[in-house]
Amino acid sequence: MQQNQIPTHIAIIMDGNGRWAKSRHLPRLAGHREGAKAVERTLKGAQKMGIKFITLYAFSTENWSRPKEEIDGLMTLLSHVLDNYSQQAIQQNMRLWVSGSREGLPPSILEKIDRTVKATAGNTGLTVNLALNYGARQEITHAVNLLLAEGKTNISSQDISAHLYQPELPDPELIIRTSGEERLSNFLLWQSAYSEFYFTPVLWPDFDETELQKAVTEYCQRTRRFGGV
Ligand code: IPE
Ligand code: IPE
Ligand code: MG
Repeated sequence: MQQNQIPTHIAIIMDGNGRWAKSRHLPRLAGHREGAKAVERTLKGAQKMGIKFITLYAFSTENWSRPKEEIDGLMTLLSHVLDNYSQQAIQQNMRLWVSGSREGLPPSILEKIDRTVKATAGNTGLTVNLALNYGARQEITHAVNLLLAEGKTNISSQDISAHLYQPELPDPELIIRTSGEERLSNFLLWQSAYSEFYFTPVLWPDFDETELQKAVTEYCQRTRRFGGV
């Protein structure tokens, strides 16, 4: 018996690239490169299933604490991924949104993002929300500061929702984390209040359409109560 419709918004913590590489005696960056291929497969799967929004946690505000070499490698990879994605997005009616802080990101990446966001703004298919230089505590703090700057004195939860990085983005019904870790790591703390969580030992570079389908099937069988009976 299917209890839930397929989710409108799926959010994914793409974890395990480093361990995937390590188990093959490869540099961590090889794992990130393979992870980029998993992103392609996952987007294809999401499009086929008719998912409207997918948020991908690509780089957290805490990931700046990694070695410079890894960060530089990740930024170069991201630059290539953005080039490929912007072509595909235009052809396949996908839209790019970004959640996160611009601070500290290379100007070349920011330019590519701005160009793609603009070029795909009118698209009506899958919206890919890239959580880049993203931290949920920073997002909520940023929202509160915007409200203070507007002169608000009595802040409601609706006010905060309306001042998040992507106010039009519905809360994710389903949050997936790969690699066996079972924590949020500063991801969507506000939006996940009633999300269903799906944890899988599969490492992100091994994730594909079938794994996405498995997560959605399990989600469909869950009972969601929202505090009711
Ligand atoms: C996730 O994989 C990718 C990013 C955080 C950028 P990791 O790099 O965290 O992989 P593990 O956790 O070390 O295996
Ligand atoms: C979360 O993974 C961030 C991303 C997937 C981008 P991490 O690997 O950085 O998280 P921790 O350090 O295990 O909590
Ligand atoms: Mg990790």
